[in-house]
Amino acid sequence: MKKFLIPIPKESDNKKKSCGKEDLMKILKQNFGFSEFRGKQFEAIEAVLSGKDCFCLMPTGGGKSMCYQIPALAKQGIVLVVCPLIALMENQVMALKEKGIAAEFLSSTQKSRVREKVHEDLSSGKPSLRLLYVTPELIATPGFMSKLTKLYTRGLLNLIAIDEAHCISSWGHDFRPSYRNLSSLRNRLPDVPILALTATAVPKVQKDVMESLCLQHPLILRSSFNRPNIYYEVRFKDLLDDVYTDLSNQLKSGGDTCSIVYCLERTTCDNVSFHLKKNGISCAAYHAGLNNKLRSSVLNDWLCSRIQVVVATVAFGMGIDRKDVRTVCHFNMPKSMEAFYQESGRAGRDQLPSKSLLYYGIDDRNKMAFILSNAGNKKLQSSVSQGDSSKKSLEDFNQMVEYCEGSCCRRKKILEFFGEKVPTSLCRKSCDACKHPNLVAKYLEELKCENGVQGRNRIFMSSYPDTAAEDHFTEFWNRDDEASVSEEDISDSDGTSDFTQDLILLCTVD
Ligand SMILES: Nc1ncnc2c1ncn2[C@@H]1O[C@H](COP(=O)(O)OP(=O)(O)OP(=O)(O)O)[C@@H](O)[C@H]1O
Ligand SMILES: [Mg+2]
Ligand SMILES: [Zn+2]
Repeated sequence: MKKFLIPIPKESDNKKKSCGKEDLMKILKQNFGFSEFRGKQFEAIEAVLSGKDCFCLMPTGGGKSMCYQIPALAKQGIVLVVCPLIALMENQVMALKEKGIAAEFLSSTQKSRVREKVHEDLSSGKPSLRLLYVTPELIATPGFMSKLTKLYTRGLLNLIAIDEAHCISSWGHDFRPSYRNLSSLRNRLPDVPILALTATAVPKVQKDVMESLCLQHPLILRSSFNRPNIYYEVRFKDLLDDVYTDLSNQLKSGGDTCSIVYCLERTTCDNVSFHLKKNGISCAAYHAGLNNKLRSSVLNDWLCSRIQVVVATVAFGMGIDRKDVRTVCHFNMPKSMEAFYQESGRAGRDQLPSKSLLYYGIDDRNKMAFILSNAGNKKLQSSVSQGDSSKKSLEDFNQMVEYCEGSCCRRKKILEFFGEKVPTSLCRKSCDACKHPNLVAKYLEELKCENGVQGRNRIFMSSYPDTAAEDHFTEFWNRDDEASVSEEDISDSDGTSDFTQDLILLCTVD
């Protein structure tokens, strides 16, 4: 049943009177059931309601969505939300509609009847919509831009929220070329405040985001990246008898709880899912190799707890709000600390104890390093700046290797990466290195011996000429979205390709 929709201030009051803290708390309570603003939510809301630009860096699960959802309810007119994934828009819109909040999204996956209805509402004298979610690809289309401009000239566009704003920076871990289109918004819609939100941005990326979006004297809100409810642990594939049994036991140890297992490739997803099922775990694979219908049913089954574990490629879960994910497991190494933070951060959004489990394997490491240096070499020949970015990818990846091969506090390592000063007391034994230092040291010693043996004996060679390897790499790594690709292809793709097949172990050297 639809819930009560907050009283909208009379239109005549709308421009004169902005909501005070009490009114905003009432909106929060009545629509979302929360009694307090969390972290810097209130500051962000207040800033955008007063027409200021705002850059908001909050940890994963910190409650960034509220920073644009509350303003949407506090003022008549539309809040435009830019999102990188269709699944994420669907998820948020569905949750808002359940609360009786007028929200819609626009994408090419919708029936044209639904899209027309949204457009009709937007062009009516008094749109009932409060939140409109779109992809950056749609913003780039002239048709949509002209509709936005009309809304703007009628004074109905209150705020533009750019979610996952780090995607705009080519220095960020999830660069989406289509996010670059957003830099035109300021010129075309000059007085509309822009709110950029992200959970992962090193200082260089923060600056890039603010400059690209042409934010004017933005209020910059930064919260600590620390996620105290997440326990961090690395498990060493090379020291385990059977990694699937180990993973199954880990997942079972917390009871039949909700988890995500991330794999690098689609075939690994299928394979891991097969083994977990065999071990009695209710799970399914999710990746771009499955058709839309199947993917959507896996997502729904997982969201409704019909299955507990999703084994997916990395795009799964971005911004999807299932609060009670107890374990996020990386079955293969993430490509960078930023990616790792973002992905592992999908655990414990309800602030209850949760776990980040990373399976580190020497083969995985070598494979990734090979791909990166191969792409890097090739790019160096063609362009210095591209070469630089490949070099950066290698450096980013090395940070992850250090995280796995280090014996110091994992939490400290993550937070220092994001430029935070971390007192040693912060972790309180909530990572394996702090809780079991002797065991971790022993594993690392054993791994060193393994590494020595494997490092001498194996090299990866490509069965493809360099250009092909690079193309595969690019598809996986950067989620390249050229203008020629359709909106849904881009927005729902996980950007992965199975490149294991491209890499064969050609020789074993003594
Ligand atoms: N003030 C609040 N009090 C209690 N819970 C809140 C509050 N604000 C948000 N939440 C809850 O916190 C959870 C995470 O919120 P949200 O999805 O906005 O996080 P996020 O910062 O966008 O994370 P991510 O970076 O992963 O997208 C949601 O379940 C939301 O309902
Ligand atoms: Mg979010
Ligand atoms: Zn620690």
